[in-house]
Amino acid sequence: MTTRFVITGCRGQLGHALCRQLAATADARVVAAVDLPEVDVAEPEAVRRLFEGLEADVVVNAAAYTHVDRCEREPEAAHRANAVAPGLLAEACARVGSRLVHVSTDYVFAGDAERPYREDDPPDPRSSYGRTKLAGEEAVRAVSEEFLVVRTSWVFGRGRNFLAAILDQAEKRRRGEAQGPLRVVADQHGRPTWAEDLAGGLLALLEAGAGGLYHLTGGGDVATWWDLARQCLDETGHEDLVVERIATSELDLDAPRPAWSVLDCSKAEALGVRPRDWREAVAEYLRSPESPLAGEARRGA
Ligand SMILES: NC(=O)c1ccc[n+]([C@@H]2O[C@H](COP(=O)([O-])OP(=O)(O)OC[C@H]3O[C@@H](n4cnc5c(N)ncnc54)[C@H](OP(=O)(O)O)[C@@H]3O)[C@@H](O)[C@H]2O)c1
Repeated sequence: MTTRFVITGCRGQLGHALCRQLAATADARVVAAVDLPEVDVAEPEAVRRLFEGLEADVVVNAAAYTHVDRCEREPEAAHRANAVAPGLLAEACARVGSRLVHVSTDYVFAGDAERPYREDDPPDPRSSYGRTKLAGEEAVRAVSEEFLVVRTSWVFGRGRNFLAAILDQAEKRRRGEAQGPLRVVADQHGRPTWAEDLAGGLLALLEAGAGGLYHLTGGGDVATWWDLARQCLDETGHEDLVVERIATSELDLDAPRPAWSVLDCSKAEALGVRPRDWREAVAEYLRSPESPLAGEARRGA
């Protein structure tokens, strides 16, 4: 039987990966894939229209206001996208009998733990992004404890992301348009997650019948942003580029960052869902059509 999917935030990193994978899955069909500006899922009327006459088995909410510093400056906009929208989608799903998959973040935690965070550890967000994402989780779970809520961390995929920014800086130095070492934060710890692995993992959790709260990130060793930058540069012929380790406090950021963002994914692993080592994922991403380098190659061709 074919499973009918709705994807919100379809042009984001995760939404794009989900649409791509579902298009290649024989027994799945995306019946609606929406994003801003056409469909604002924080607008009750837009959500009502989206569900009108729609027959969907699963709705995956990959829409979110993910720019952490802007969320700090624009808490109302963050609240609409990250807290109001998931609640509206949950209510609509409950009304029509669709399953909802909602995605959340490591930023719901304070970031001061000494071991990976488990699903039942108490959240204590320190930023507007984290607080609004937690409110979104709560809004979904208030409608149904059976809806799947998956927290992830440090996502990279198509478009704007940390790796694209690092490669852009490296290329500028190669072309002589910028000088000096790169400076990258080395006091935040987490696990990078390729959007493709996250999309595959979400679909595998669904397939396994998972409901409730799960953690799902890349696997392998605990990383800092410095480690991620170094790995990316070493994979792309920039081994000689110096990357200076700096502290988060040296950056003038609007939102606080958790120093410890590592999520314990053993609950998902018990269902057989184990994303690969983040270092392998970075290498494959850099060779994939989503890589910023693929864009370079196309522009250079
Ligand atoms: N990126 C990370 O490092 C990270 C880490 C942990 C958790 N997560 C979570 O993972 C999920 C996917 O993240 P991602 O990196 O794929 O995000 P993303 O690339 O920023 O994509 C989110 C998409 O949602 C759209 N959107 C925002 N508000 C909307 C609204 N009101 N109605 C409809 N669409 C809206 C965005 O449009 P605009 O671009 O026009 O705003 C964007 O296309 C999110 O729930 C996020 O909180 C992400």
